[in-house]
Amino acid sequence: MNNHASVPIGVLGASGYVGQELLRLLAGHPGASVVFATAESAAGEVALGHRLVRADDAPLQRAEIVLSALPHGVSGRYVHAARAAGKRTVDLSADFRLSPEAVYGLTEVTRPRVAAAELVANPGCYPTAALLALLPLARQGLIDASREVVIDAASGVTGAGRAPQRELMFGEVAEDFRAYAVGNEHRHLPELLGTLARESGFTGDLVFTPHLLPVKRGILETIHVPLTRPLDQTTAEALYRAAYDGEPCVAITPGALPSLKDVVYRNRVAIGVAPVAHVRRPRLTLIAAIDNLVKGAAGQAIQNMNVMLGLPETAGLTC
Ligand SMILES: NC(=O)c1ccc[n+]([C@@H]2O[C@H](COP(=O)([O-])OP(=O)(O)OC[C@H]3O[C@@H](n4cnc5c(N)ncnc54)[C@H](OP(=O)(O)O)[C@@H]3O)[C@@H](O)[C@H]2O)c1
Repeated sequence: MNNHASVPIGVLGASGYVGQELLRLLAGHPGASVVFATAESAAGEVALGHRLVRADDAPLQRAEIVLSALPHGVSGRYVHAARAAGKRTVDLSADFRLSPEAVYGLTEVTRPRVAAAELVANPGCYPTAALLALLPLARQGLIDASREVVIDAASGVTGAGRAPQRELMFGEVAEDFRAYAVGNEHRHLPELLGTLARESGFTGDLVFTPHLLPVKRGILETIHVPLTRPLDQTTAEALYRAAYDGEPCVAITPGALPSLKDVVYRNRVAIGVAPVAHVRRPRLTLIAAIDNLVKGAAGQAIQNMNVMLGLPETAGLTC
């Protein structure tokens, strides 16, 4: 248990979409306060009352925990600097998600390891929803590994970050809907496969196709799961309720399927289940919804930080 009244937190990448969300959530946290916040092009500006300094000038010594919301490929260097300064760190980029250097911070699954970790790799937004949806079935050997699990997922545009890109301009995105990284080429695939194998022993194939949805925030995933045996609605829901009994940040929606309005601005994954009719082999459709910036990024990082500090796990969070 930490004895400080308010734990000093450093935020790297505070001018980005995830960094801004970290500042917003930490502003309402009863046991933590931001002691530095960094930016690159926005260095010198003020965000939520914090003067943004360059990451190279971050006063690491002032923080007890450093949260890094830097781009992947950039974050690793600054995380190593924070670690060299003796700081426990949560990295929200992809740089350590497949690395033995870090504990993978899917809180509901790896909580005891997170509590003891010096470095936590916060999961990706798409994987957080997909893994929490798939692991209860995978752990019970209910997924037929001789057939592919198909994940069709759609994300709001903040998922791509704040740096300007032509294909993300309003005129390109508004009133349109399109797939990307088609052909199982998305960088989240190894994270999904590696975590499923490590946490459940499942080693079958996944086909993951993301889509760009013209909303600011939120992800909806439709997950087509081949089963080893039929599951009716009641049994499937009971299995999920048992798997997440007592978990404040996972909502199983009984008899209804979740949509984005169930999750935006909340640190939760909402999961609905539906047995599939009119097919010869048993199959379940899972619908998982998440706010990419909250449970998919900043909120889960704070959840992990709370676990690391021995604070109430949902402090500063609305689940
Ligand atoms: N967006 C999501 O939904 C989401 C979900 C899960 C995980 N993530 C991960 O979280 C991280 C942040 O994502 P984001 O969407 O917030 O990205 P973003 O909006 O592009 O923000 C990136 C942040 O890093 C700073 N930065 C960029 N290049 C830098 C450099 N060379 N040196 C130091 N600072 C630099 C930016 O500063 P300036 O803007 O001032 O230049 C900004 O503060 C990424 O690794 C991403 O993969 C994002």
